[in-house]
Amino acid sequence: MLLTEIDHVAIAVKDLDAAVDYYRRAFGAEVDHRETVESDGVEEALIKVADSFIQLTAATRPDSPIARFLDRRGEGLHHVGYRVEDCAAALRSMVEAGATPIDTEPRPGSRGTTVAFVHPRGNLGVLVELVQIGP
Ligand code: CO
Repeated sequence: MLLTEIDHVAIAVKDLDAAVDYYRRAFGAEVDHRETVESDGVEEALIKVADSFIQLTAATRPDSPIARFLDRRGEGLHHVGYRVEDCAAALRSMVEAGATPIDTEPRPGSRGTTVAFVHPRGNLGVLVELVQIGP
């Protein structure tokens, strides 16, 4: 079994501050980590739940993938982060099983992680991010 944890559930939001405020009011949640990943055009706020996170994700520019998602579909569930020991090995295994990679090689993610995205096509309709803790 290559999966060790649900690392995060990512929700695309239009207004990150408003979403954080809603989670504070609804759940008493505080932000554990906030980071802008300019290469991906996203700003994210991570709310820790046990050893996993809810990742509220907003766009930093109109041409980012999250901005296009929000234009097409509105706010909602965007992807699920699966924590793995070895991102490259898990990516290889998924591709061998029929999945379509978005990232053909693992790359740096937020929080100092190593990540690779896998397309919903061939993956039961779910955008998955493989997340390895550390480089
Ligand atoms: Co993610």
